[in-house]
Amino acid sequence: MKTVFVLNGPNLNLLGTREPQVYGSQTLDDVQVLCERACAANGFALEFRQTNHEGTLVDWLHEAGHLHAAGTLAGVILNAGAYTHTSVALHDAIKGTGITLIELHISNVHAREAFRHHSYISPVAKSVMAGFGVNGYALAIAGLAGMQ
Ligand code: DQA
Repeated sequence: MKTVFVLNGPNLNLLGTREPQVYGSQTLDDVQVLCERACAANGFALEFRQTNHEGTLVDWLHEAGHLHAAGTLAGVILNAGAYTHTSVALHDAIKGTGITLIELHISNVHAREAFRHHSYISPVAKSVMAGFGVNGYALAIAGLAGMQ
């Protein structure tokens, strides 16, 4: 059974109370349950994590890279939060590991402030998903299943 890494960056631990008009009212725990169900339905194991620290995300991408090299990674779904718009380090980690990665945003970043329109992740992502709310996580897991 292959593993899906779902990695969440800064401030996503605040889901449920953070700008609910933008991100909805479901919590990160709710998102984890949703991902567990989607992974079970598609025959994947799930590794679900959140951190507020950029270097930790880099370390986790490297860890996913080891699974990729061993042939046991289905792919990574990354909501890098604000690091999407700032992080060359995440760009380099994705490129350097060769992992299959889906960039995910709960909101439609292109309909928001101009500083959210640029992504350092998109050029090294296999796919980009934005604006489906938290249901985007389940859609991304189904998308990974279609790529196997
Ligand atoms: C986000 C969009 C980012 O611009 C923002 O900084 C986030 C969340 C989203 O899921 O819509 O933290 O990635």
